[in-house]
Amino acid sequence: MALELALELDLPEAFLECVDNKQLMSRLADGMMKLIVTSPPYNIGKAYEQRQSLELYLEEQSRVITECVRLLHHQGSICWQVGNHVSKDGEVFPLDILLYPIFKHYGLQLRNRIIWHFEHGLHCSKRLSGRYETILWFTKGDDYTFNLDPIRVPPKYPNKKYFKGPKVGLRSCNPLGKNPGDVWIIPNVKANHVEKTIHPCQFPVELVERLVLSMTDPGDKVFDPYMGVGSTVIAALKHGRVGYGCDIEQKYVDVAWQRVEQLRRGTLRTRPMDRPVYDPSVPNGGQR
Ligand SMILES: C[S@@+](CC[C@H](N)C(=O)[O-])C[C@H]1O[C@@H](n2cnc3c(N)ncnc32)[C@H](O)[C@@H]1O
Repeated sequence: MALELALELDLPEAFLECVDNKQLMSRLADGMMKLIVTSPPYNIGKAYEQRQSLELYLEEQSRVITECVRLLHHQGSICWQVGNHVSKDGEVFPLDILLYPIFKHYGLQLRNRIIWHFEHGLHCSKRLSGRYETILWFTKGDDYTFNLDPIRVPPKYPNKKYFKGPKVGLRSCNPLGKNPGDVWIIPNVKANHVEKTIHPCQFPVELVERLVLSMTDPGDKVFDPYMGVGSTVIAALKHGRVGYGCDIEQKYVDVAWQRVEQLRRGTLRTRPMDRPVYDPSVPNGGQR
């Protein structure tokens, strides 16, 4: 009889619940989360939300953010990933602009407003098609965790040399790669993306991996209060961090658990962080 070896990766624990985020957070201890990453509903009438007035939406966001700030470690970060709220008559309201004062009210400090650029999405007919969203990265204080080396990217000109001064002739770029900057070009999760699930608005795991690797250390706790199918938790576990998340839709929580199990078994496919974006103008789209 063939012996089946069930190889399981030794990952940190995941805590996932189907529950309203404020309810879950009320049970969690002050200062326990090193990183809170999330993409809340945009109040645009998606399957998982009900449209409400912008005022009520912002009040609700404020209540959730209050609790997130309480849970945040003193060296921790909050990354709020948002796009636009679009009213029924087509007026655009950038959510990061509307939410910024709420974070400032709690004394958080903005470190970057990261532009996430992607090349596919809805084709608009009465305005330009939206091809970016933002991540507001706030810290609780000045002494915050930030590890640049794990997220460095290959330099454009690796052989560039100093042309004057005491280092003339030596390579001028960091051998570990360059700072990725604050404009991130990462494909969004559309039908043909390896990470696509039943969720209509997942964010890509590689987007969160950059945040996890730079803003936390191994063993730290990472939380997503609107976790959907658990992309944040997957990014956390992949890198040895403990993952916490909740969603009010059981079907998304079920998929999140399935993804965690697949990650443990080594069968979960995620788009690698170092894969170049497909470029039709070069052989094989520039893919390795
Ligand atoms: C934009 S999606 C997040 C998707 C997630 N980033 C992912 O990659 O799967 C927002 C999620 O928030 C959930 N949600 C809405 N209100 C919630 C609440 N009060 N508590 C917890 N989850 C909520 C929705 O069901 C939806 O799955």
